[in-house]
Amino acid sequence: MDTRLLFQNADAFETPLLAVFAANFAASTDSPSIRLLSAEPALTAAAQQLLGSGEFKGGLGETALLHNPAGLKATRLLIVGAGKAAEITSDAVRKAAGTAVRAARQRSLKALAVALPTADESIKLEAGSVARAVVEGVELGAPDYNTYRSDRKDVPVETVSLLCRSAEGASDDATRRGFAEGLVLARAQNFTRSLVNEPGNVLTPAVLGQRAKAMCDDAGLKCEVYSTEKIRELRMEAFWSVAKGSAQPPALIVIHYEPEVAPKADAPVLGLVGKGITFDTGGISIKPADGMEKMKYDMAGAAAMIGAMKAIAELKPAVRVKAVICSAENMPDGAAFKPGDVVTAMSGKTIEIVNTDAEGRLVLADGLHYAKTLGCTHLIDAATLTGACMVALGLINFGVFSNDEVTYERFTQALSVSGEKGWRLPCTDDYRDHIQSQIADIMNTGKNRYGGATSAAMFLKEFAGDTPWVHLDIAGCAWNEEKKPWIAYGPSGVAVRSIVEWVRAWAG
Ligand code: BES
Ligand code: ZN
Ligand code: ZN
Repeated sequence: MDTRLLFQNADAFETPLLAVFAANFAASTDSPSIRLLSAEPALTAAAQQLLGSGEFKGGLGETALLHNPAGLKATRLLIVGAGKAAEITSDAVRKAAGTAVRAARQRSLKALAVALPTADESIKLEAGSVARAVVEGVELGAPDYNTYRSDRKDVPVETVSLLCRSAEGASDDATRRGFAEGLVLARAQNFTRSLVNEPGNVLTPAVLGQRAKAMCDDAGLKCEVYSTEKIRELRMEAFWSVAKGSAQPPALIVIHYEPEVAPKADAPVLGLVGKGITFDTGGISIKPADGMEKMKYDMAGAAAMIGAMKAIAELKPAVRVKAVICSAENMPDGAAFKPGDVVTAMSGKTIEIVNTDAEGRLVLADGLHYAKTLGCTHLIDAATLTGACMVALGLINFGVFSNDEVTYERFTQALSVSGEKGWRLPCTDDYRDHIQSQIADIMNTGKNRYGGATSAAMFLKEFAGDTPWVHLDIAGCAWNEEKKPWIAYGPSGVAVRSIVEWVRAWAG
């Protein structure tokens, strides 16, 4: 898709479909007062009758289509609701933009234009974040994940023109910057989604390694893909235990990003660690058949880190970053690890395996430790780690855990820029006894089912040690269970944008 930014007035732009956003400016709930988020009088004039009719309520994702709108060069005018004006965030703008592209797609239109909302007193967003949110929304709204359907007849949108009425000077520069960044971030997120979408038989650990390597070759990143031999040589027994029950060899993927100007020797080195279970049967502690097919997305944390590295390579922040991806398939087999086994992680800690379905924390244990040996001074991991996190937070917020306030604070700032939603859950030392084992240093499940997301985080914290660390449990958010007006059913690519913003926050 060719997505471009043009400094032009929307009324004179020839296009099969011109989208403009509208919001409800009413103070009370009973009488909506709908106005366009555009300063162009010609657009307001064309939409006047509809807006005054009371038929269009301006709800987020609501649309109304006018053919041959008077006074405009566009063939169609699509009014897209953005919700209550007082509550418009970059997230609402992103969703409205996604709704516009999906509406065009539904009508098999190959091109559309979007009138960028005017950043003025009506919405409390700056020009840069508006442009960024719109470009992210259209890029993320565009794909559908019916990849393997032989009756696939989609007519993809080929061109999206974002139209900005020039304000000249600083505001236009901010718009250009927001647009350029949003494009990079959304395309990286879509790359992540394309990986998460793949079924387990297609995307094995080795194939994940190949896809990561191909991306790195394109982006100019150094990438190493190791397998069984290296994992055993490094004494990653926690990782290997998970991998050894599968006919598919595991992959340890290491990606290095070096800034153009070498940072000082004592500058931070960020470690991005991802859970890459390409299919999770649960192993010997096998999962019920119902819903097991979903476990192809158990590599979404790994895919998020690979996507984040793609964006980092393009945005070039002045900070060193290394990604460590631990990928394996969790299978039951004669060679599989078993409940009751005791294994020694790369760090030297001994682990009692109580449940082979708690495999994510095992591969991450060695991934986190390995990242430290590579010189990482600050760590972030992402993992579809626990059903318990979904029970706690539902499908809207991912879980955020940390052992360090400054590092956590940087992550909350990152969330405010990315527009993603994460909610902090505890992992303080008073939960340590959840993972105390009789026979070994720790065990891989909590002592009971209470606070399962925290028990998993406590386990990881043992391997982060004194290194500042943030853990994201994305089990509930990595897959969109329902299609929405602004986004397809399927892989979400959650956390990519926030991880990149967290990295950029360290670059100063
Ligand atoms: N991959 C699952 C977690 C998961 C569940 C991800 C649902 C996405 C959707 C993880 O490996 C797992 O099975 N965790 C267990 C841990 C338990 C055995 C302590 C869980 O959450 O039930
Ligand atoms: Zn599992
Ligand atoms: Zn899993």
